[in-house]
Amino acid sequence: MISSLPFMSGAGLWLMMGPAFIANRICGYIPSLAKIPEPEKASLTSLVGCRTKFFDKMMEKNINSMDQVVFMGAGFDTRAFKYCSGEKIKVFELDKENTQKCKIEALKKAGIDYEWITFVSIDFNQESWVDKLIENGFDTSKKTFFLWEGVTIYLEEESVKQTLKAVAKSSATGSVITFDFYSKSFVTGKGSFIMKYYGKPFLKMTGENFKFGIDTKKNPKENVETLLNEAGLALGELRMIGKTTEKKKPFGGLVEAVKK
Ligand SMILES: C[S@@+](CC[C@H](N)C(=O)[O-])C[C@H]1O[C@@H](n2cnc3c(N)ncnc32)[C@H](O)[C@@H]1O
Repeated sequence: MISSLPFMSGAGLWLMMGPAFIANRICGYIPSLAKIPEPEKASLTSLVGCRTKFFDKMMEKNINSMDQVVFMGAGFDTRAFKYCSGEKIKVFELDKENTQKCKIEALKKAGIDYEWITFVSIDFNQESWVDKLIENGFDTSKKTFFLWEGVTIYLEEESVKQTLKAVAKSSATGSVITFDFYSKSFVTGKGSFIMKYYGKPFLKMTGENFKFGIDTKKNPKENVETLLNEAGLALGELRMIGKTTEKKKPFGGLVEAVKK
């Protein structure tokens, strides 16, 4: 699918990754972008790798006991093809309309069968995505696995809270939602030199903005639990992202929450 995306350049990819690839072949060098440390040791450059590993683990742990899976803000995630293809599980992908159109075009161009996935276009900030899911065949009485990777940071706090409540209200006991979040200081750019001088200006250029964060300075676990309990969910696994020292606090977290 990657090579069929309109913004993908083989030459660009080679220019970006080629030198690291050659260095790896010559002397085993591994760039920090490709390293996968434990989340508690992750930095900004290794963040995505450790996040991916955590969500893969969550898929593997939960998928066999679920009837439905919902990829929320799926973007160009291809886990549906890795974990759900050929399985009896019903698969939904939620995202903004333009992103889904672009993905579907790329899948078509690459000759990949995607008809078994139900694409539902939504905006978490603006509408009842559950109603749209139900219109498209979602069954609220079934056990469902919700994967919400890399999305909460772009949403208003109220949307995050409402979405968690909707997950709890619209799925069977034992359903699971897994998501990542970032610290308030990371989101505002105050706690990180890179975020302040590179991340935030870059986001401004792309028209995106970071919005939702959780305070990780004091009792991050309690803060996460409060958010979940208010929504009717219980904390399963929680891994903090980034080192914790006297001065440094984690810049994010990875959450597994269960419908009580
Ligand atoms: C960083 S990408 C993550 C994509 C995918 N989950 C992954 O981890 O590869 C964020 C995704 O959230 C989607 N998104 C952001 N805000 C959204 C909103 N308000 N409603 C629906 N989707 C949204 C974007 O379109 C994008 O696909």
